[in-house]
Amino acid sequence: MDTAIKLSEYQARRKKVLSGLKGAVGIVFAGEGAPPLLGEWMPDMNFRYLTGLEDEPGAMVFFDPSNPDAKKRIVLLLKPVNPEIDVWDGYRDLVSEKLRAKTGFDTVMRNYGLPRLMTEAAKRTKRLACLHPFASYSAPVSKDLELFQKVSARIPGCSIEDKTDLVLNLRGVKSTGEIKQIKNAIQATAHGIECVMGKIAGGVNERELHNALVGGFAAMGSIRNGFDPIVGSGHNGTVLHYKANNCPTRDGDLMVLDCGAAMAGYSADITRTLPVSGKFTKKQAKLYNIVLKSQRAAINAVKPGATMAQIDAASRKVIVDAGYGDFYPHSIGHHLGLETHDPSPTGTLKEGMVVTIEPGIYLPDESIGIRIEDDILVTKTGSRNLSSMIPKTVEEVEAAIAQARKK
Ligand code: GLY
Ligand code: MN
Ligand code: MN
Repeated sequence: MDTAIKLSEYQARRKKVLSGLKGAVGIVFAGEGAPPLLGEWMPDMNFRYLTGLEDEPGAMVFFDPSNPDAKKRIVLLLKPVNPEIDVWDGYRDLVSEKLRAKTGFDTVMRNYGLPRLMTEAAKRTKRLACLHPFASYSAPVSKDLELFQKVSARIPGCSIEDKTDLVLNLRGVKSTGEIKQIKNAIQATAHGIECVMGKIAGGVNERELHNALVGGFAAMGSIRNGFDPIVGSGHNGTVLHYKANNCPTRDGDLMVLDCGAAMAGYSADITRTLPVSGKFTKKQAKLYNIVLKSQRAAINAVKPGATMAQIDAASRKVIVDAGYGDFYPHSIGHHLGLETHDPSPTGTLKEGMVVTIEPGIYLPDESIGIRIEDDILVTKTGSRNLSSMIPKTVEEVEAAIAQARKK
C-alpha cells in the first residue's frame, strides 16, 4: 500500500464519506483484477483515494453510518486468502491485528461477508446511496447501483439515493500531502523534459526522446507514468492524442511533448513544444506567442469562484482574436490528481483544487502543432503555477535546449 499519504488522512477521508452519507448505506468497489501478464492492474480511483490500497482486486469499503457498533460503520472487505494463488500473485495477510494496523481499518472482513452485512444494514436503514458515478445508458450499470437494485428487489421499501458527487467533491480539493505528491511528480517531469532537451536534434527518433523522457522520470524516483507520453514532431504534433512516438524528427519542425510522471499515484501533466533544431522559426515563434498569451490569460482567470468555462473563454478569446479559433479544437484543461483527467467536482473552483491550463493551435496543413500546459493550484486569492520552473517562453526554451545539450 502506498504510504506517502498518512493512514490518518485515509481515515479522515472515509469519515467524511460516512458523515456525507447522512445515514444511508454506501459501498465503494476496488474492481476486479486484470488477467495475468496483461498490464498493471489499477483499482477504481475512488477506492484508491479512500484506502491507498493498490493491490487488492475484489476489495470493497462498506459504509454503514447507523450501525450500532461504531467499529462496524466502515468495513474493509477483502478477497479470501488463497495460498495457491498467492504463489503466483504475492503473499497476503490473514485477517489479523497486523492487517488492521496496516490498513487503518478497525474492521476487516472477507468479501463473502457482504450479503449478510448488506441485508442487515438495508433492513435497518432502508436507504442505499450510490457513490460510484452513474454509467451512461450504453455502458453497464455501475456496480453499487446494480447491487442496490438486487437488494431492493429483496427488501421492500428500500430507496436508492444519488451520492455520486460525494467522493469526487472530496477528491477535487487536494490536501497538503496530495499537493506535495503532485509537486514531486512535476519535479520528475521537469527532469524528464530536460533530458529530452539534451537529446533533441534533427534525425533523432521520437522513440529515443520518449526513452530519454521516461528515463528522466525514473531517475527522479517515479515508477509509473501518469499517462502514455505524447512525443510528436512535425505533423504528429497536430494529432492531439498521438501515440506511436516512433518517427525520425527533422530540423525545422516543432515537437509537442505532453507528459507526466506519477508519484505515489499522483500525476503531473505538462506540455512543452520544442523546436527540433533548438531554434524557433519566425512563424513558429509568432504562433507560439499567441498560445502563450492565451495560456497567460487563462492562468490569470484561475481563482476561487471561477468556472472552467470562464477560464476557457479567456484563453479562447486570445486565439480567436488572432484568427486561429478553428485551430483550437479542445478545451482549456481539466482537474488533476490521482487521475490525469481527475473527475470534475461540482460547482466553481475552490482553494486547493489543481487544474491544467493547456491551450493549443494545430495547423495540420503546415505540420505545426503547438500546445503549452501547466499545472495550476487554486489559492485563497488566485492561483500558483506549480510547474513554473519548466522553461516556457521562446527565449527560455531555446536557452534551456542549448544548456541541456552541453550536459
Ligand atoms: N495529456 C492529456 C492531456 O493533456 O489532457
Ligand atoms: Mn497533457
Ligand atoms: Mn492535460
